[in-house]
Amino acid sequence: MRTMLFAKHKALPLAAVGIALLMAGCEGPPPQSTQYPYSYRGVGQNAFVNPRILAKLHEANVAPESLAPAVPIPVAAGSVYQNLQVLGDVSITEFTRQMSAIAEWIVPKDQWVNGQGCVYCHDLNNMAADTKYQKVVARSMIKMTKRANVDWQAHVAPTGVTCYTCHRGQPIPKYVWTTNPGEKPHTSGYVGNQNRLSAVTAYTSLPFDPLTTYFDKEAVIALTPPTAVAPFHPKTVNTKNAEGTYALMNYISRSLGVGCNHCHNSRQFADWAQSSPQRVKGWYAIRMVREANKNFILPLTDIIPAVNKGPLGDPKRIGCETCHQGVNKPLFGAEMAKDYPALLTPPATAPAAPAAAPAAAEPAPAQVEAVPASEPKVTGLAGTAAGVM
Ligand code: HEC
Ligand code: HEC
Ligand code: HEC
Ligand code: HEC
Repeated sequence: MRTMLFAKHKALPLAAVGIALLMAGCEGPPPQSTQYPYSYRGVGQNAFVNPRILAKLHEANVAPESLAPAVPIPVAAGSVYQNLQVLGDVSITEFTRQMSAIAEWIVPKDQWVNGQGCVYCHDLNNMAADTKYQKVVARSMIKMTKRANVDWQAHVAPTGVTCYTCHRGQPIPKYVWTTNPGEKPHTSGYVGNQNRLSAVTAYTSLPFDPLTTYFDKEAVIALTPPTAVAPFHPKTVNTKNAEGTYALMNYISRSLGVGCNHCHNSRQFADWAQSSPQRVKGWYAIRMVREANKNFILPLTDIIPAVNKGPLGDPKRIGCETCHQGVNKPLFGAEMAKDYPALLTPPATAPAAPAAAPAAAEPAPAQVEAVPASEPKVTGLAGTAAGVM
């Protein structure tokens, strides 16, 4: 009896070592856990980081060095060049520097001609011409970037946004999305596209295209009905809302490389008073993304070539992942944008020089809507620390 017991006990630790070794092979070194500074002790808002994965992310998300500052000359580019609709008020030297930076950020080196990437967007015989669609797209992109830096500071400050945030040296950013029509029903039976794993939703079998639902359209993001209501009451939050919300939330978590509790207190997902300030940033982000796609990318549908579009002919659009690329702050919060003043001011509303009479720039879109009172009682931490427990 004694020996048997002994033998059993010996086998257990051995098995444990075996399993530990196996796990080490897949996941080591072990993840580290830190409690978020804003969360009250014991409420479960911890960050889990695997140092090995983090090191890889750091390697993949390095901001390039900023170009040397331009010698300031008080001559507006718009008084020299013919067709400036958004950068006309920038000093001529800063303008030239900004063009060089844009070429570095967007055009792969193997497409440069005579040591320069300008030809990707320009007809070198007539720099003012808008003949290449790439230049027209780039102009809308400049407006989108300025808009983010000027009017969406609640989301992007102090890090800021440049073309590099999304593009990373490529004409089309790596993480973009188009509407996913799903599979057509087969004659052999019901497909319904249910229970399919989808990368967008972090390999869950939730609704597979939350981005069309929540970024193009504005479906209700909620799980918890505000009050107890009867079924079919218009305020009822149904299963479809709940599934869609989880799908979107999984996409958001994956895009930022964080767990749900980066933003939520996992015992009460809906309550803003128990959520972190990051959730408020996320709230602005959802609105910013919707607006950017609607105002700056979808209007380009007719000029973007078919090869760059999705199966339904819609252009590639931005989501959280386009900027974040797996990191909670894009490029680990490197403040590149502050070195590019041309991207930090509202678009010039009219060309500075009347020269070639180009079409007037569109007026800036209406101001960003304020956060509705119903939600951030941004007391997040204060509220939690003040003794919700
Ligand atoms: C990714 C596209 C893109 C690249 C690459 C690019 N540009 Fe531009 N360029 C633009 C856009 C867009 C405008 C118009 C800006 C506006 O409307 O205010 C412009 C305007 C200009 C103009 C003004 C022409 C005029 O008379 O109206 C000059 C000069 C210029 N770029 C030079 C350059 C040089 C030099 C390079 C290479 C170092 C370069 N650009 C690379 C997009 C680009
Ligand atoms: C928030 C992300 C984001 C930022 C910031 C951004 N872009 Fe883009 N850009 C996109 C997306 C998404 C597309 C794909 C649009 C499509 O073709 O459907 C794109 C496409 C382009 C294209 C077309 C490339 C081609 O070959 O078809 C150009 C040129 C471009 N961007 C220039 C710029 C410039 C210049 C800036 C900075 C002033 C900039 N972008 C900033 C997301 C971004
Ligand atoms: C980057 C911050 C962020 C992360 C990470 C995040 N969420 Fe959210 N979540 C939000 C925001 C913002 C809203 C409110 C959206 C709105 O109203 O526009 C929300 C809403 C929700 C709601 C709806 C609450 C209600 O009102 O009924 C649920 C449920 C939810 N999230 C669950 C999750 C889950 C589960 C995860 C992890 C898979 C997660 N969230 C990750 C920011 C986040
Ligand atoms: C145009 C680029 C861009 C897009 C698109 C974008 N973000 Fe961000 N986001 C940023 C920048 C830049 C920061 C860093 C702000 C700072 O310095 O604190 C940031 C920060 C955040 C933070 C704060 C992280 C922290 O740990 O403090 C959250 C949360 C966040 N973003 C959520 C989102 C969500 C959710 C989406 C999609 C709905 C999204 N973002 C889309 C640029 C972007």
